[in-house]
Amino acid sequence: GAAPAPAPLTLSFNPVAKSLEDRLVLPAGYTATVMYRLGDPISSDVPAYANDGSDDPTTYDRRAGDHHDGMTYFGMGAGGTWAPSATDRGLLVMNHEAITPAFLHPAGQTTTGSGTAQVRTVPGEVLREFYLHGVSVIEVGKTGSTWGYKRSSSFNRRVHTLTEMRLSGPAARTDYVKTRYSTDGSRTRGTVNNCANGTTPWGTYLTCEENWAGYFRRVTATDNAKRTAKELTALSRYGVAGNGRELWATVTPDTSDNLYGRWNAEVLGASATDDFRNGPNTYGWVVEIDPFNPLSTPRKRTALGRFGHEGACLGPVVAGKPLVWYMGDDSRNEYIYKFVSTRAWDPADVGGGLAAGDKYMDDGRLYVAKFAADGTGTWLELKLGVNNITAANSTYAFADAADVVINARLAADAAGATRMDRPEWTAVNPVTGEVYVTLTNTNATARPITATDAANPRFYNDPKGSAQTAQRGNPNGHVLRFSEANGDVTSTTFKWDVYLFGARSTASADINLSQLGADNDFSSPDGLWFSQARPGLLWLQTDDGAYTDVTNCMMLAALPGKVGDGGAKTITNIAADGSTRQQGTIVGKAPGTAALRRFLVGPVECEITGIAESGDGRAIFVNIQHPGEDTSVANIGDPSKFTSHWPDGGSSRPRSATIAITRNDGGFIGT
Ligand code: FEO
Ligand code: CA
Ligand code: CA
Ligand code: CA
Repeated sequence: GAAPAPAPLTLSFNPVAKSLEDRLVLPAGYTATVMYRLGDPISSDVPAYANDGSDDPTTYDRRAGDHHDGMTYFGMGAGGTWAPSATDRGLLVMNHEAITPAFLHPAGQTTTGSGTAQVRTVPGEVLREFYLHGVSVIEVGKTGSTWGYKRSSSFNRRVHTLTEMRLSGPAARTDYVKTRYSTDGSRTRGTVNNCANGTTPWGTYLTCEENWAGYFRRVTATDNAKRTAKELTALSRYGVAGNGRELWATVTPDTSDNLYGRWNAEVLGASATDDFRNGPNTYGWVVEIDPFNPLSTPRKRTALGRFGHEGACLGPVVAGKPLVWYMGDDSRNEYIYKFVSTRAWDPADVGGGLAAGDKYMDDGRLYVAKFAADGTGTWLELKLGVNNITAANSTYAFADAADVVINARLAADAAGATRMDRPEWTAVNPVTGEVYVTLTNTNATARPITATDAANPRFYNDPKGSAQTAQRGNPNGHVLRFSEANGDVTSTTFKWDVYLFGARSTASADINLSQLGADNDFSSPDGLWFSQARPGLLWLQTDDGAYTDVTNCMMLAALPGKVGDGGAKTITNIAADGSTRQQGTIVGKAPGTAALRRFLVGPVECEITGIAESGDGRAIFVNIQHPGEDTSVANIGDPSKFTSHWPDGGSSRPRSATIAITRNDGGFIGT
């Protein structure tokens, strides 16, 4: 039967002003507790973090990682199993996307040489960096009204770039993923650049590998000649080229287990032990972790496709119906995807751990979205033999099912999907089942004025302060939403509109299309999550480089309507030479401050990303990522030049951290 209509929510706080201060700004009546910072120990045998680069690298597998990102709270019952309604004890699982190297070592990264000859020379620094990426599982609890983590919990775990993973689904055990580390292609080591996240109805965590391609070293001048034309097409499409992020592969390789050398994606010699070509094929996946089983081996779910995964949001869960996850590929001009399970959901699988994942996530259909100008759209299936995904394709000859998921971007190209303005988080409204996607921003190079379309409609100039460079294109981003036909997750058609356009409140009407004001204007939407305790409440987080002359990054609370609550509109885009081009689009109803208002502003140069809530919705957890990240002006020997000292203050190095937010009267957060 139909679910009872939820009581209408109202936003119950006074919006906060934009801020450039090096502190958290929250509405009156709320308290934030800094709970879990970069380097904090998660084991009783590890000392407190010195935060000056002197901490022993071998302790970092038992410390908080860096750049806290997507996050899920799992309520835990007395028996140490998943209990979604548990209100004051749980496991908080979060991603550690990347690092700010200047703050990790005594004096930044130690290197010698330049160009392709530049190498890291201190293996201990690299070991720290390996451990600082990945995922934390920590037990959290409430003492009185204050949340904290339990340093000695047996559930505490770090998953990082050295943790063994099992490959699962169509790409597992194929020739494409056979490596020196796993000669049968059943396993790989590590996860990296874990950005947004996702959940399953059986109580596990999904972590998504985003900008993994840049970590691999592949010097094209020497490697290209050793590759087939087909391999070069795929390597180019995914951007596997260069010295490798953080130069990990340049540390003298440990030849016994390939600890550093696996970040080399080159064919170094004729023998199998010198052939590293397949390493990149083992990254770029959605990874499933069972937080309640600390000894379990995470699974890379290859059926969900390989790309720059932002997140994987679970759609409506209905007994007897297939499950669905919605996913963005965060790069300019990339796509929006969904995965629909073959098997129908059986609630008896709650608590089934990774075996349930094997059942629902290894077998299904992968689709990519195509948007039409009239507000409709189509899901195109990515499968060998359909939608131009064939051996005869002139750009890329697809060989088999594993080739299609490993090279999902090429399959989506062949199918003719719509290139988007950087798809970040996906979120599903529990009231309507509608799907929201942040399209964070793009620039004039990636989408010139002549390439705007109805779903990516804007081109204009965002004026920064006098010392900063103006940004042209779609610098402030937008939030798109869609509604599956008949409310059915297996539908291959949908209706869409643009829920919100980011903009300065002072911008002209053709730019400030959602009529934002001083209390709710924002730029570059990224994190996006619907409360489960307060159905209909949406949290929106920013990762901005445009409006930063006026404000630090922020989080807003929203009460969105439905697809089609506004209407068709023609906007005037303005080219660099002052000429104009008309672009039609479909714009949602302007929210006003009743349905959108600013809740939080973070410290200097942070990104606000990652949100979860306690079982009763009376606490939320939010991640403050990379405060003070502009290390071009930070002098590691002179703390007075750091741009941020958050959260520890004084002359400290800044640290990414998880905060817990509660309302002083014990009420729900935001409503
Ligand atoms: Fe890691 Fe797309 O943000
Ligand atoms: Ca993000
Ligand atoms: Ca972002
Ligand atoms: Ca970031």
